[in-house]
Amino acid sequence: MSEPLLQVRDLKKYFPITGGILKRKIGDVRAVDGVSFDVIRGDTLAVVGESGSGKTTVGKTLIRIFKPTEGSILFENDDIAKLEGNALKNYRRMAQMVFQDPTSSLNPRRRILDIVMDPVNVHEIGSRKERYEMVARIMDRVELPKDFLYRYPHSLSGGQKQRVGIARAVIMNPALVILDEPTASLDVSVQANIISLLKEIQKEYGLTYVFISHNLSLVRNIADRVMVMYLGRAMEMAPTKELFTNPMHPYTIALLSVIPTVSDEEEKLLPERIKLEGEIPSSVRIPKGCRFASRCPKALDSCSLDEPALVDVGGHLVRCHQLEKNA
Ligand SMILES: Nc1ncnc2c1ncn2[C@@H]1O[C@H](COP(=O)(O)OP(=O)(O)OP(=O)(O)O)[C@@H](O)[C@H]1O
Ligand SMILES: [Mg+2]
Repeated sequence: MSEPLLQVRDLKKYFPITGGILKRKIGDVRAVDGVSFDVIRGDTLAVVGESGSGKTTVGKTLIRIFKPTEGSILFENDDIAKLEGNALKNYRRMAQMVFQDPTSSLNPRRRILDIVMDPVNVHEIGSRKERYEMVARIMDRVELPKDFLYRYPHSLSGGQKQRVGIARAVIMNPALVILDEPTASLDVSVQANIISLLKEIQKEYGLTYVFISHNLSLVRNIADRVMVMYLGRAMEMAPTKELFTNPMHPYTIALLSVIPTVSDEEEKLLPERIKLEGEIPSSVRIPKGCRFASRCPKALDSCSLDEPALVDVGGHLVRCHQLEKNA
């Protein structure tokens, strides 16, 4: 069972910036700037990185809220990057997203019933009665009482709202679910419940997840593989255990350095601690050469000359000139 559901190649998503009275294009926000990865059916790929690294844009492009600027997204061997019309509508049945903030992603003027039933209505599945039964079943599964169906989002807690978001995402039994920081707005105790619900549902429904987060400790117990993004690019990608026990890229080590370690043993695993300084540069003016060089404690002048390639070191991919030299 290691067949890819998704094969993403050189994916780019640029947002044009216009200026002047003529609103002419004066540049691009290079939110996603050439990423390639596979997601194995039934697996969870985590996408991590600081704010602005392009994680949400990757997610929204995978489910085709955004149309890619370039690149291909093979979904069960069909390229969904350029789909339009009915073909796009059919694809959207199979790819859903749970958003970071359930308060802003649930329409406050609609009842929970209408919110959860929405995808079923859009795709005109079954009779009114069958649609209601689908909603009732999924409400049971996300452990929300049925009388919530006639309530409005504001009367629910954050965790309950996110359960509604999950119900809406899985009601059509999709193949792929993008989870965009699904627990970031919740209390720690509620977070754990939502994570275990997501894991159970994944097994029962055979879902493939892309789990977006900037919290590496959360990713550790949910992901099979991790992709570390910086300024629209993958800097490192490896199976979860490998990434945590043998992080190679200085950026990954910096992200790991801010997680409190549980034991001395774990502390020893971290090669060193790297404190990340300065701000992530703008996606409009991406630095030449290695895009992390301006903040990297290991960088040499030569790092800013050309961009390092993503090199495969035994199934562990890393993009760093310093490591290329040692390899
Ligand atoms: N619709 C848009 N129009 C223009 N620029 C955008 C749009 N969406 C995102 N961007 C820009 O693209 C870059 C990547 O944004 P994105 O939201 O994907 O990052 P992120 O990794 O999800 O960050 P966060 O952790 O804050 O959610 C940012 O510079 C952002 O300002
Ligand atoms: Mg985001």
